[in-house]
Amino acid sequence: MAIWINKYAPKTLSEVQGQTTALGKLKEFVEKYKRGNKPLLIYGPQGIGKTSSAHALANEMNYEIIELNASDLRNANSINSFLGAAINQRSLFAKKKIILIDEVDGLSGKEDRGGVAAINALLEKSVYPIIIVANDPYKKNLASLRKKCELLEYRNLAYTSILSYLKKICQKEKIKADEESLTSLARSVGGDLRAAINDLQSFSYNGKLTKKDLELAYSRDHTEKIINSLVRIFKTLSADVAITAFDEVEEDLDKIFFWIDENLPREYTKVPDLAKGFANLAIADVFKGRIKRWQYYRFYVYCYNLLSVGIALSKEEKYPGFTSYKPTTRILRMWMANQKNAKKKAIAQKIAARTHTSTKKAMEDVILMNQIFKKNKKESEKLSDFLELDKEEVAWLRG
Ligand SMILES: Nc1ncnc2c1ncn2[C@@H]1O[C@H](COP(=O)(O)OP(=O)(O)O)[C@@H](O)[C@H]1O
Ligand SMILES: [Mg+2]
Repeated sequence: MAIWINKYAPKTLSEVQGQTTALGKLKEFVEKYKRGNKPLLIYGPQGIGKTSSAHALANEMNYEIIELNASDLRNANSINSFLGAAINQRSLFAKKKIILIDEVDGLSGKEDRGGVAAINALLEKSVYPIIIVANDPYKKNLASLRKKCELLEYRNLAYTSILSYLKKICQKEKIKADEESLTSLARSVGGDLRAAINDLQSFSYNGKLTKKDLELAYSRDHTEKIINSLVRIFKTLSADVAITAFDEVEEDLDKIFFWIDENLPREYTKVPDLAKGFANLAIADVFKGRIKRWQYYRFYVYCYNLLSVGIALSKEEKYPGFTSYKPTTRILRMWMANQKNAKKKAIAQKIAARTHTSTKKAMEDVILMNQIFKKNKKESEKLSDFLELDKEEVAWLRG
């Protein structure tokens, strides 16, 4: 199966979505390049066409691309031997070249063993145009490099622009997608077309994109966010840090309770810490009850403060190391309990109908029937005929 971001990588500049002004400048830079010109430093966020527009341009102008990425850049020797050779030779008949140095900011200061300095030294000598790509050129270790370059900004793509690109892909791939789902997908990626295409491919594996697929994906996203807030709360002793923990979380309050309830014992392994933590959780629960009962919405603040700062400060000292936080199993347990209750209720309703009693009263009878079904096969068969129980109900009573 082809990966769509490769399959649909632009082959010419006209296939690059948006970035119109930048593309004009990019082309001009390469066309007018002569030795001694400054290199071009393209920058901007992920997945908006920086790398692929350089390739598209080379393809359209029939240039060869010599590409270096962060891992090649780690040491000065490899750069000198690679770039040094490429930069100097230029035969009359050889294909023209573009030197592309991608993701320079992938180099952290520590890892950089003279790589950036080595590039710096070579920049002015190149007979070929050099294009450097960075996410953030204002990082400290890129300061000297930045000063030697001409800067060109690529911008986040508007969601409308992403939407229209996704529509084209849907058409080519024969994906059935409704407008609403596509729009919310396009909005959710924050201008990153690569992420949008990847999401589209993974959610539409069965030939269609529906709201349901998206909801699943977003719940994955929510889980990440809530885990981040747990890390904030559990791993700090500072109220200032903890208090903002739920700012990004859109889960409802009930779910947050479950998450803390489930993970508190994983992190706070000392008994006094755990006891204080649960005490705060309990007080928060009292406030939550008041919100629900009396619509005292002001209590939300108390709730969130207890759940964040309250829990954070319940510990004597921080627990070192990494804890893997889990989604609550309580929800699953609750759901199973509900399912069980649903069967019980269904049976009780049948009893109630047959015997002219209330469902509530009949619920008690179900427990008695349990005993009969477990011990007396003959009686139980009569009963199930009388009540017109189905197979599953009988199995439930026996089990
Ligand atoms: N502006 C764009 N036009 C068309 N495709 C794009 C654009 N931006 C990203 N893509 C898609 O995402 C993939 C990755 O884009 P890329 O240019 O590598 O992003 P980056 O800006 O991070 O270098 C491309 O192969 C292409 O499929
Ligand atoms: Mg890139």
